[in-house]
Order: sequence, then C-alpha cells, then structure tokens
Amino acid sequence: MHAVPPLEQNTVEASPTHAASPKAAPAQGPAANDAPVRDLRRVGIHPDYWYPLAWSHEVKRGKTHGVTFAGDPIVLARTESGKVFALEDRCAHRQVPLHQGVVDGESIRCGYHGWTYDCSGKCIDVPYLGRERLPNGVRSYPCREVEGLIFVFPGDPAMAEVRPLPKLGSVADKKYKTRRFGRPVNCHYSFMHENLMDMNHQFLHRRQMGQMRARSLGRRRGEGWVEVDYTFARMAGQQPIGEAIVFGQSRKAGGDNDKDVMTIRTEYPYQTLQIRTSEKTLVMDLWIVYVPLDREQRTNRTFGLLSIRKPGIPGALNLAWPLLVWFTERIFKEDREIVEAEQRAHDSQGADWNHEVFPVINELRALLRESGAPDQVVGAGSAHTEVIRFWDSRQGNPVAKT
Ligand code: FES
Ligand SMILES: [Fe+2]
Repeated sequence: MHAVPPLEQNTVEASPTHAASPKAAPAQGPAANDAPVRDLRRVGIHPDYWYPLAWSHEVKRGKTHGVTFAGDPIVLARTESGKVFALEDRCAHRQVPLHQGVVDGESIRCGYHGWTYDCSGKCIDVPYLGRERLPNGVRSYPCREVEGLIFVFPGDPAMAEVRPLPKLGSVADKKYKTRRFGRPVNCHYSFMHENLMDMNHQFLHRRQMGQMRARSLGRRRGEGWVEVDYTFARMAGQQPIGEAIVFGQSRKAGGDNDKDVMTIRTEYPYQTLQIRTSEKTLVMDLWIVYVPLDREQRTNRTFGLLSIRKPGIPGALNLAWPLLVWFTERIFKEDREIVEAEQRAHDSQGADWNHEVFPVINELRALLRESGAPDQVVGAGSAHTEVIRFWDSRQGNPVAKT
C-alpha cells in the first residue's frame, strides 16, 4: 500500500466543438499550467488481462459462438470433446466470420469453401488443395473456462502466462449460492466502476431500498487497486425483501443496523462488493467485470457473480431466490438507465465535464486512467453509436441465465 496521491483535478481535454465556448467550461477548469488529464471516457481498457467473453452455456458442444472484445471479432468454439478455444472471427481466405462455419471434431471449418482451422488458428485443411500447400491461418487467443465463464486474453499472448485469472469471489464455496447475471449496457466501463463504488447514490434506489444513508469509513489504495468501506443506516421506510434475504434478519428504521460493513474494491479491471456482518461473516460477495463490446468502448457487457451465504435453514434461500432475482434486477435497471444517461451527456458534451467531489471516486478515476491502455483513445467517432444494435446483430438474446 502506498500513500494516497493528491486528488484528481477536474480537468477536461479541450474538444473542437466546446473548447471555445465559455458556457461549456466545467465548474472547475484546469489551471493554466496543469498537465492535461486524459478524458477517462476515452481511455481504452487494457487488453493484457483475462476477460470473460461468454457464459459457458452460450457455447454449446460442437457449436461456434461469435463475440467481440472492444470491436475485435472473436469466435469461440466448443469442440466435440468439450474443449473451448478462441480465434479471430475471420477466415483467412475471404474474411467471412468463422462463427458462421461449423465445428468439425476439434477444429472449425469455414462455412464458405471449408478451410479448416485447429485450436491454435493453424489452417489444417483446404479441401481442394494438397496438404503441402496450406496457407497461413488466423490468430488464436489464450482461452480458459472457469466457473461457468469463458475467459479470453485479448492482449499480448506472452502476458497470459504471467497474468493470473481473477479470483471469482465465493462462487466455488458450497456455503454460498451464486446468481450469474449480466447484460449489455450502453456506456464506457468507467461509468460502471464509478456507479458501484459510489454508494452516495442511494437516492436513485429510494423506491427499492427506502431511505438509506451511506457513511464512508475510509479508503485504501495499493498497486492496481482501490477500495472503500461503508456502513449504512436506514433513515425511513421498510427493509426491502432483497436485503432481508441477504441478512436473514429484520433491520428496522432507527434500529441498530449500521454495524454491517460493505467493502467495494476495484482491482483493475475487476470489481468486488462484499458485505460483512458485525460478526465478520461474509454474507454477500459480488464479483463483476465490464467488458467493452464495440471499438468505441461506449458499451460493455457486464458479467456478474453474486454469491449469497446460505442461511441455517436448508432450502430457505432457494425459496427466496426468485425475490432476490427480482430485487437485484430492479436495482440493476435503475443503475443501467442512469449510467446510460451519463454516457449520452458525455457524447453530447464531447468531453468529460464530471465534477467529482467524493475522494474515493477521484482515486478510482485516477486508477482507471493509469491502468488503461496507454495512448489508446476511444470513443472519438460519431456521437451516437447504436451499440446495442451492433451487439444484437451478432448475438441474439444476450441476457444471461440466472
Ligand atoms: S472464405 Fe472461408 S474458406 Fe473461403
Ligand atoms: Fe446503484
């Protein structure tokens, strides 16, 4: 852990459309000799990490499945033996997507002329050529399947050997039941990190949660991560059913309900949210990541694993599960709508006018900037990319099973 660096200045990059307009200046402009700060919403995610690109159930045995990472088309294939591999989603011949081809044993056969690629991307058969005259193949990606997620390493393949897969919360612990969830959201991944870490937005969820007041207990920062602790007090309203399921107890307004501690951590590029009771029991453990889909990185697909500790009464959590799903979906919908509104504001303003006042979010923003792809500027294209349509055209229904 190192000392907390100075807070970010609320600087923005000048944009051609807004720089000249005094009206367009943010509340706190950069001082004259400040070094320009990268617009966080234009920082590309760093590719040298493991990213889930699909749920296991989406890649069926003997089938292909087309996905994208930051605009790069990737085909996932599950072979007849059940192994999953990942290649560039293009045939080396006429560049048509390989996901339109077929799995043939342990390889993919392009749907056009039948060129065939093994799991390393090597072309191993051209039906109308001799084996001695085979052309070059396509790029392969390191690929691993863990706990129902298919992880791909989109960056430098040499880094895949040294970069560990993330720890996936409590998903493998039998004491917990896990909900797998996620869907595309029309915004840059940084809005998602800010949304989850900033518990001062309970006002947004007032209809679901009643009036809750979050209190920050402190923050910590280390190499590649930042985290913050909160406690909560219910100021008014009833305890929602979803919260009751997590805690297995009734927490009333004005009661002694502020002993539980929520810790939210961004360990680049992943995020976790854990709730511990006053007895230090981990009752909720969320692991989540936001994977950019389009080249502009104005949309992401969320992959979340929400683990809830099973209560003492066997089967009680299963009975309550549909309510928990309903509750978390409603919260997620409110979050999704508000972060998409933030992205639209960025699109129309042409720069990040964010006026952040909460220290840990400034820490988080600095971390995301420092950890992102160096020098890569994204989101500089047309202001209103129809990214979900882009996704739908490749995927069909992207909603995860719960
Ligand atoms: S385009 Fe793939 S085999 Fe011809
Ligand atoms: Fe929220």
